[in-house]
Amino acid sequence: MPTRVRVTVPATTANLGPGFDCLGLALGLYNTVELIAMPAGEPVQVEASGEGEMVLPLDDTNMVLQAARHLYKHVVAQECSFKLIANNAIPLSSGMGSSASATVAGLVAANALLSGPLDRENLLRLATELEGHPDNAAPALYGGLTVATQSGTDIHCRSHALPDSKVVIALPQIDISTHAARSALPAQVAMQDAVYNLGRVPFVIEALIAGDYETLRWAMTDRLHQPYRRELVTGFDTVTAAAKEAGAVAVVLSGAGPSMAAFTAKRHNEVAHAMQAAFEGHGIPARTFVLPIDRRGAHISMVSG
Ligand code: HSE
Repeated sequence: MPTRVRVTVPATTANLGPGFDCLGLALGLYNTVELIAMPAGEPVQVEASGEGEMVLPLDDTNMVLQAARHLYKHVVAQECSFKLIANNAIPLSSGMGSSASATVAGLVAANALLSGPLDRENLLRLATELEGHPDNAAPALYGGLTVATQSGTDIHCRSHALPDSKVVIALPQIDISTHAARSALPAQVAMQDAVYNLGRVPFVIEALIAGDYETLRWAMTDRLHQPYRRELVTGFDTVTAAAKEAGAVAVVLSGAGPSMAAFTAKRHNEVAHAMQAAFEGHGIPARTFVLPIDRRGAHISMVSG
């Protein structure tokens, strides 16, 4: 049985406009964790560097460890202690899937320490139990574009490889808790808004697979979550307009925000610069990322012991 594994997990952007809680895309920005099995009863050890290094918990409440323990309980019904060394490039609370990345990293690493008893479908089911929804965990595990949905306790996921392309992400310095972003949503939506979104989802999937940006221009739009969340992201409308002026065909909230994702076939750096300048015009510092699409998903880069 291995005693030490290293796992690399990509960032993700969920929803992609109309695909609320079901579409997701893996992005080429990575967290890497090393998980070392230790005898039950030993105190956990956590070292974290990179994004969030000053705020990430260094005890049992760390999400990577919680996921690893969840898997151990599920598979071998036993406790285990771990040493965790995490190096994170995915910003926390950003809408770029850092929480799903931590969960997936813990599950994939613990599964590898047990010599891989669970397949990806079952890892996604456990990730969804911990995350509450599969739309970030699915691309973090599978890579590429994913469609994931729940039926009872089953999670159904399809993943698609996309042509080489890049996504622009603008991350403003705005705090939005997941709770606030979910609380902003209504309990019920109008029939015509549901129809608006569900008619667009297949077009978004096809257009991303085909690299058809002109279809994204009208299809990557949403009436189920963005109208309620845009108030939480100061500058949402001006940033959208600035990105489009610079060449973006579609601009959406990335997951629950606060980051925004822009899609364009070219002029990625110009779009990134325009989005940053528009946030700064509202007095909000912003970071931007021009990220390739990740095709691999979570993968084990080292096993030893
Ligand atoms: N689909 C989720 C949401 C993604 O929009 O709330 C963020 O967790």
